[in-house]
Amino acid sequence: MTQDQLKQQAADAALEYVDSLLDEPAVIGVGTGSTADRFIDGLPKLRDKLRGCVASSERSAERLSRHGLPVLDLNDVESMPVYVDGADEIDSNLHMIKGGGGALTREKIVASVAERFVCIVDGSKVVDSLGAFPLPIEVIPMARAAVARRLAALGGRAALREGFVTDNGNQILDVRGLRIIDAQSFEQQVNNIPGVVTCGLFALAGAQLAMVATSKGVRRLQAPQWDVG
Ligand code: 5RP
Repeated sequence: MTQDQLKQQAADAALEYVDSLLDEPAVIGVGTGSTADRFIDGLPKLRDKLRGCVASSERSAERLSRHGLPVLDLNDVESMPVYVDGADEIDSNLHMIKGGGGALTREKIVASVAERFVCIVDGSKVVDSLGAFPLPIEVIPMARAAVARRLAALGGRAALREGFVTDNGNQILDVRGLRIIDAQSFEQQVNNIPGVVTCGLFALAGAQLAMVATSKGVRRLQAPQWDVG
């Protein structure tokens, strides 16, 4: 099976899950990336159950609109039952590295308003420990070099994502060489560096459920201590 087919399977599993979750029309949060795109492309099937979607990027908002799905401003939404998005890496605690597509800040914000984060990935994204994928960090442009020096002190080699500007007008540093042993405290440490807008670690608030597509089918992983259906 190709990686594209696996992404499709993970997205289909999330569509089924969202369908079973929603008893009445609701607003849902929608992520960004090639796996999230497949989820978006399947959402018209659930149109009757959707009051609208909050998108985590301009790119996803445009895709939702092309399908005729209402895109809502997060400021007009108090809560959402679910946020669905991909990841670059995910571990057994359902902590993730995200931001390969550069949408990490809006992803973290939209996810924080949702009751549960459902992560959709192909099996290649599942890792024993996070950090082989360069950690994306969104920074205020004037702080780029200062943040890079602080990351070097933590053992990381930060490279500017050339020619890329986030939806929020900021820049991304991709950081290699980090040894992330305690993802939650590492996320806190990075959050505390002045000039960091968002760290691509999603560990303080990870996913509650992951749909992991493999050639043997889709495995559902549940976060430890999460007992909501
Ligand atoms: C975008 C993200 C994506 O979820 C992540 O990069 C995975 O993307 P893909 O589904 O294309 O592999 O965090 O900012």
